[in-house]
Amino acid sequence: MAVIPVELAGRSYQVHVGRGLLDDAARLTSTFLRRKQVPVVADANAWAAHGERLARSLADAGHELALYEVPPGEGSKSWQELEHLCDWLLAQGVDRGDHVLALGGGVVGDLTGFACAVLKRGCGFVQLPTTLLAQVDSSVGGKTAINTAAGKNLIGAFHQPSLVLADLTALDTLPTREMRAGYAEVLKYGVLGDAEFFDWLETNGEAVLVREPEPLEHAVAISIAAKARIVAEDERETSGRRALLNLGHTFGHALEAETGFSDRLLHGEGVALGMVLAAHYSARLGLIAQGDAERVERAIAAVGLPSRLSALGLGCDGSRLVGHMLHDKKMDGNMLPFVLLRNIGEAFLARDVDLADVAAFLDGQLAAGSYDPVYRPVVPDRQ
Ligand code: GLY
Repeated sequence: MAVIPVELAGRSYQVHVGRGLLDDAARLTSTFLRRKQVPVVADANAWAAHGERLARSLADAGHELALYEVPPGEGSKSWQELEHLCDWLLAQGVDRGDHVLALGGGVVGDLTGFACAVLKRGCGFVQLPTTLLAQVDSSVGGKTAINTAAGKNLIGAFHQPSLVLADLTALDTLPTREMRAGYAEVLKYGVLGDAEFFDWLETNGEAVLVREPEPLEHAVAISIAAKARIVAEDERETSGRRALLNLGHTFGHALEAETGFSDRLLHGEGVALGMVLAAHYSARLGLIAQGDAERVERAIAAVGLPSRLSALGLGCDGSRLVGHMLHDKKMDGNMLPFVLLRNIGEAFLARDVDLADVAAFLDGQLAAGSYDPVYRPVVPDRQ
């Protein structure tokens, strides 16, 4: 069990990482639960898998539970779902001093966090993330948002949770593909700022993915601690520090857009391939050795994540992918910042990247043969 502080003036909170935290949720959240009836917003699948443990914990502590179930999937991060949820929270009589529990992955965390940011100008919430991606990334740091027709996460607020409980047993039921997608964000912390952690993951990545308890806890705790440090330094992404967490996301966003933000390429898979592209582009600019870019590619391919652009079979050219990047919310005026590498473990924000050169680079990657000799999952799919 690890307890990681997120140090923010006046809004500090803890992230607990361990096994069985949902069974102990009422005790761990007791300072935040001032009402007998506790509002819980849950992803329908997460509720089916873990709801009973949470309900039992609350009931044993004398609480009643009011449940709002959110349909699984990105489609729930919508104006309509936000409106329904806010109306429901108001009907429950939730006040500013109350806390709402959010059980599920990034969709539920982002939606509930945003609803709590605007409800009566801000009430409290506790994140109970049940996916690897939510545990190591979206539940920590206070980014909350919904999607609109204009794009993903364009409407949102910074609103920090009061507590995060990352129960590792919740990952036992996670499909392997989603586990891998979350692992891309774990690997990201090594590539962007921690060469030692990257080395460790090269050896222990498979153990993390098959959910061996000790390696899994180590990987989740190190990832959250890395994120907590960055968020404490640059909560609102103004200094360029937090923007480093977008490593792989600019290339990844273009790939997600080209594949229609669909199951064809999950967000974490886009980030994985985006990291490979960021590493190879850094090598093209002479910032890192070609061998280091290949090392990043191998670490991603070794766990069965997509690592070759040509293997996606996109049927588009590099300038079309760059066109998608121009609609990325990371655009700053006419400039698109890229997170590139000076080393494995040393990312930086490049603000002078030539987009025509990026398009030419992507043309080369798209054409680099359709047979991918290294993309072979070592961790078999469970579901
Ligand atoms: N997911 C990137 C961030 O929280 O800043």
